[in-house]
Amino acid sequence: MKRSIVPKNNRTGAPLRGRPVSASRTEMMELVLPQDANLLGNILGGRVMHLINIAGAIAAHRHCHLQVVTASVDHLDFLNPVRLGELIVLEAQVNRAFHTSIEVGVEVFSEDFVSGKRKHTTTAFLTYVAIDEDGNPRPVPPVIPKTHEERRRYREAGERREARLEAHAKNRK
Ligand SMILES: CC(C)(COP(=O)(O)OP(=O)(O)OC[C@H]1O[C@@H](n2cnc3c(N)ncnc32)[C@H](O)[C@@H]1OP(=O)(O)O)[C@@H](O)C(=O)NCCC(=O)NCCS
Repeated sequence: MKRSIVPKNNRTGAPLRGRPVSASRTEMMELVLPQDANLLGNILGGRVMHLINIAGAIAAHRHCHLQVVTASVDHLDFLNPVRLGELIVLEAQVNRAFHTSIEVGVEVFSEDFVSGKRKHTTTAFLTYVAIDEDGNPRPVPPVIPKTHEERRRYREAGERREARLEAHAKNRK
């Protein structure tokens, strides 16, 4: 079924008002404690994925003010470890909203308490879908990118969506 390009409120039919990226930008941080670490004293990859999912969901939720579910998480590379006793810092921002789905980018850093030095650990792209009380997808407000960087992320989110949905269609067969 071909959908309208402008997302509309389910009940009133009025077009949904766009929201700036800044309205839902989210920073989350946590101290890495022994129960989060492996035998080398680095945070477990699974724990990082869990935190990424939460930070991304908060940003998506703040953007649309609706319940959201995770539809997909793109490929992840862990470039640098986050050590026991360091802070893990997660910065999440909505890159683009489509009709019922939202792409969120989450950047993860380690932060040394003493020096304050940050190292990039990974970047993740997640897609959340807003749902109603019956679990059916619901339209979400568009994103209004304002800065050069936000416009770049917006454009690239469109390209990633194409690739993602193509892979999704193949997996479904
Ligand atoms: C995500 C979910 C709501 C999509 O339902 P669906 O019936 O496939 O819905 P549709 O085909 O109408 O797609 C709805 C939107 O989701 C997007 N979508 C669906 N699967 C996707 C995927 N794997 N990756 C990215 N986007 C996806 C579609 O592109 C569409 O976006 P748009 O409206 O912005 O164009 C449904 O599959 C679901 O509930 N999954 C389980 C979610 C969950 O529980 N996650 C937690 C971990 S299990």
